[in-house]
Amino acid sequence: MAGNGTINGAAPARNGVAYPITDHTFDVVVIGAGGAGLRATVGCAKAGLRTACISKVFPTRSHTVAAQGGVAASLGNMGPDDWKWHMYDTVKGSDWLGDQDSIEYLCRNAPEAVYELEHWGVPFSRTEDGRIYQRPFGGMTTEFGKGPPAQRTCAAADRTGHAMLHTLYGQALRHHTEFFIEYFAIDLVMEDGRCRGVVCLKLDDGTIHRFRAQLVMLATGGYGRAFFSATSAHTCTGDGNAMVLRAGLPLQDMEFVQFHPTGIYGAGCLITEGARGEGGYLTNSEGERFMERYAPSVKDLAPRDMVSRAMTIEIREGRGVGRNKDHIYLHLDHLDPRILHERLPGISESSKIFAGVDVTREPIPVLPTVHYNMGGIPTNYHGEVVVKKGTDPDVVVPGLMAIGEAACVSVHGANRLGSNSLIDLVVFGRAAGLRAAEVVTPGADQADLPADSADKALARLDFFRNAKGDIPTAELRLRMQKVMQNHCAVYRTGATLAEGAALIHEVWEARDHVGITDRSLIWNSDLVETLELDNLIVQAVVTMDGAANRTESRGAHAREDYPDRDDKNWMKHTLAAIDPEAHAVSIDYRPVHSYPLTNEMHYIEPKARVY
Ligand code: FUM
Repeated sequence: MAGNGTINGAAPARNGVAYPITDHTFDVVVIGAGGAGLRATVGCAKAGLRTACISKVFPTRSHTVAAQGGVAASLGNMGPDDWKWHMYDTVKGSDWLGDQDSIEYLCRNAPEAVYELEHWGVPFSRTEDGRIYQRPFGGMTTEFGKGPPAQRTCAAADRTGHAMLHTLYGQALRHHTEFFIEYFAIDLVMEDGRCRGVVCLKLDDGTIHRFRAQLVMLATGGYGRAFFSATSAHTCTGDGNAMVLRAGLPLQDMEFVQFHPTGIYGAGCLITEGARGEGGYLTNSEGERFMERYAPSVKDLAPRDMVSRAMTIEIREGRGVGRNKDHIYLHLDHLDPRILHERLPGISESSKIFAGVDVTREPIPVLPTVHYNMGGIPTNYHGEVVVKKGTDPDVVVPGLMAIGEAACVSVHGANRLGSNSLIDLVVFGRAAGLRAAEVVTPGADQADLPADSADKALARLDFFRNAKGDIPTAELRLRMQKVMQNHCAVYRTGATLAEGAALIHEVWEARDHVGITDRSLIWNSDLVETLELDNLIVQAVVTMDGAANRTESRGAHAREDYPDRDDKNWMKHTLAAIDPEAHAVSIDYRPVHSYPLTNEMHYIEPKARVY
């Protein structure tokens, strides 16, 4: 195969159109330029690996930019702290579905990862004596849950993700990463169970690019846009997850979808949990601070699954606020305006713009809103994708890694603690770079790709480009989003999930009858949105089917018909795969890693999750 940037002739014509392919060869290709993708890219480039970073948006528009409240690490700047307490909180927060070896890796490496960001230039907020400012976040405690709340979340005002993303992009440029910006990844190139590369559409000129690499890393984020109301950007379509499903590999724990308690009512924009960390509180229509009833010790700083459930109950029982009594108030109006100005400037502005509220005088109308996917591509703590083969639940898929929200490593288990996502990005982004340096030889010869290696991707592109069905993309997307919002919400029952499964499978089948009108390959948003919808639908289906199968309540998966956690039968990860031709889902399970990484920490025994 010819080298970089060469045009290797045309793939077989489809519908009378030939698709010339431009070929590229790299040691490592990272897909996605959010926090995880950029941190991994920097690590690979620093290790001397020729590294490409492919992104469908300009890197600093990746969704990490929207992360607000902060990044968790036991620095102990505001009081005593310990990575072992952080680990305890994370295991308990995960409702014992998290893998304890991965959680130990996350928490013990978190402080170093934050200091690295500080040295690279992240403009953290500061304490009086110049150290990184840390605020309290939900479920973060001291003394293994027995002490007072921990101030563990390192913050750059309420724009921490923005500060991190810009810093990481600067570092990636400094280390001469080759960026391929506004390239949309269509499908992975797999050969005999190994990942060999990826085929992409360059959005501004409609050309096809095939990337060959020793290692492909998926850092493609979550799929919040499968739901109607989400804090996620419109670009959060889980493209990597869907490529993995189409490659015949399973996704893990997809039924665990996090609802953030404080999305702005009607708009869905995030109001950071840091608002409650700085002293904000929730009230119902009776003016009651109802969280005192649900989580007597930590109150408004309970983990997100619990706060979202409490808000839902208040609304259901007729104590919601507003004309339709269908939301809740978040109060910041009692806080010193100087604190709001210094530490929460971003959400003060978005409350004004999206809710018309002056936070110094009025409460913000809020509602639990889809925010994060605990599930994703199963990996070990090096970021290597793993599958279950026979009795071995952790066989590495050669050439393929996944990090960030796209991955399920699994440190968040059934429920992620706020600010554990930004630390996940940098700790496992760094781990992936370290692993790549071990398993990839810089500049090693790579075998030619099979002659038909782009065919599957081009067939998919061509199918949608020429789609002449009678269902517009926007209509089908809305159908999918409404089904997910109504049938796979904060509370679930066997009946709503069964109905939801039937409806979402109908949407999946209707995908074959979608129609678009613009046949161009250049800047064709209709085509890209249709490819994204195709990605979303398969993730929606495995989410719903996984939820219907899991007959217990654990973390964000709250079944009214099975209200208790059932460790005997269900302390296991769901693995869901698809057969796209048959429109069928198959479900299997693999064990949770109930052991720590080292003997410095003991296994944290399951117990009732009370706060
Ligand atoms: O509330 C927030 O600032 C979000 C943080 C997170 O999801 O980790």
